[in-house]
Amino acid sequence: MLNRGESNQHISWLESAITKEDRQKVHGHKSFMLWLTGLSGSGKSTIANALQLELFNKGVSVYLLDGDNLRHGINSDLTHNMEDRKENIRRTAEIGKLFVDAGIVVIAALISPYQKDREIARSLFGKDEFIEIYVSCPIEECEKRDPKGLYKKARKGEILKFTGIDDPYEEPANPEIILDTSNWSIEECTSAVTKYLFDRFC
Ligand code: ADX
Repeated sequence: MLNRGESNQHISWLESAITKEDRQKVHGHKSFMLWLTGLSGSGKSTIANALQLELFNKGVSVYLLDGDNLRHGINSDLTHNMEDRKENIRRTAEIGKLFVDAGIVVIAALISPYQKDREIARSLFGKDEFIEIYVSCPIEECEKRDPKGLYKKARKGEILKFTGIDDPYEEPANPEIILDTSNWSIEECTSAVTKYLFDRFC
């Protein structure tokens, strides 16, 4: 049995008879990954869901990979320690890569707190295929919002290694887009993303 991270020598790569470009033609648009990163409570999932709906209504084939939802299924064996967060990001990026290969626009919304892990995610994609979106919000504001009551639990020591409290969040060094959710409405945030996409891909 292989350990995680080891690769099997006795496998080969099957060239698909249909290319990514063929599939993009069927969908009528390019495919790429929109990777939303930010603190818990910063608004990632809300923006991701609104963005998904807006793109869907414009006729885009789009799918949302939300961190919390993935942790109910494919990533349900992972904790929030550093190694498991890394695996969480790796699996999500690999799944996203398959969607992009299928010609679909993917939105991923995960805290993804470590720069190194986000760089590994980016490295799986082509040059213009990975768009990092920093959902920026001061920790004080996230804690005030506390939509799931988790900051309160973390402060009481009921959740350990909570991002922003006793586990780090490394701000993106060079994101393609920054959304300031403490000052912008959800509509302003989704518009900023769709404008970026329109300028780049239309
Ligand atoms: S990530 O760090 O591995 O990217 P992910 O986005 O999948 O995190 O999951 C974050 C969600 O898990 C939060 O929205 C919150 O509901 C929950 N959670 C549980 N424990 C923690 C923790 N220690 N730190 C951050 N989020 C946690």
